[in-house]
Amino acid sequence: MIILGVESSCDETGIALYDTQRGLLAHALHSQVAMHEAYGGVVPELASRDHIRRAIPLLEQTFADAGVARDAIDAVAYTQGPGLAGALLVGASVACSLALALDKPVLGIHHLEGHLLSPLLAADPPAFPFVALLVSGGHTQLMRVDGVGQYDLLGETVDDAAGEAFDKSAKLLGLGYPGGPAISRLAEFGDPAAYHLPRPMLHSKNLDFSFSGLKTAVLTVVKKQTTNLCEQDKANIARGFVDAVVNVLVAKCMTALKQTGLKRLVVAGGVGANKQLRAALNEAARKRRFAVFYPALEFCTDNGAMIAFAGAMRLQAQPQAATRDYAFTVRPRWPLAELRIT
Ligand code: KG4
Ligand code: ZN
Repeated sequence: MIILGVESSCDETGIALYDTQRGLLAHALHSQVAMHEAYGGVVPELASRDHIRRAIPLLEQTFADAGVARDAIDAVAYTQGPGLAGALLVGASVACSLALALDKPVLGIHHLEGHLLSPLLAADPPAFPFVALLVSGGHTQLMRVDGVGQYDLLGETVDDAAGEAFDKSAKLLGLGYPGGPAISRLAEFGDPAAYHLPRPMLHSKNLDFSFSGLKTAVLTVVKKQTTNLCEQDKANIARGFVDAVVNVLVAKCMTALKQTGLKRLVVAGGVGANKQLRAALNEAARKRRFAVFYPALEFCTDNGAMIAFAGAMRLQAQPQAATRDYAFTVRPRWPLAELRIT
């Protein structure tokens, strides 16, 4: 079965072809980061317009790279939500009109299910069940995953997501957008003893997170400086920030593994690309004898491959998820709990 995947929920246009026999056939991605950088964040209207410009050329490129004829596909999967309404509508309309033209079924995929299943694209995928740490720009959640459509929320952020804290703190340090990779790079040169920033909810005894206080702590440190921050100051603050986020994320993962009795941890979403987080989790896995799985770096942030893959998984688990009703809607807000397959 060959599934075409279309992702357009935020600032990346992603297209991919996934074959349940042969694996990922081809994928293409356009990131709008450079376009939004000048504004310090994603401008929704510009994002939608750019998806319109990119979707068809990327689609053509993907089919050409895969050497697959258009009517050889079995279904089209697209990100139906959550995300920016206008951006989602572009992907949904491209996916549904192509499916209509080819007389193929179509199915809407939950963006977070795409992230959640993305580590299964790897050559050595984890078996179910596992604990998943989903850390993206909009979400920070711990989940127990027993199979496709079997997701139980264990805990989540009560305010900012980890990625959001990275982006907002980077802005305070004048590092541009998106801030995650920039803070991470700078932190490598920082002195770990220079700033001890708060670890919100570290001892909360549950699996919830809170990151807005940490961002405020960065703001307070920045405001205290009477002169312009020098590069070393910035690196020290970045280090203090990264250490605090990583400390909390790792501690909560350990609690989740203990509570569930599971021995496999899967990390997904943009912040899962973070070097310091991966190093700390690898170290914990070695010491505590559990296995940790990550998607390839290119599939941590938004991409079409995870949507094509989630589409294929869903179709196998729930064939009725696909439809030939091409009157599409998008779901900018969509609770993951609604995905349960019973
Ligand atoms: O999963 P994603 O591409 O988009 C959403 O679905 O939100 O995640 C984007 C987030 C941004 O907040 C970005 O700053 C963060 O992931 N990010 C990182 C790194 N790469 C991306 N955060 C920390 N370290 C990184 N290397
Ligand atoms: Zn995402």
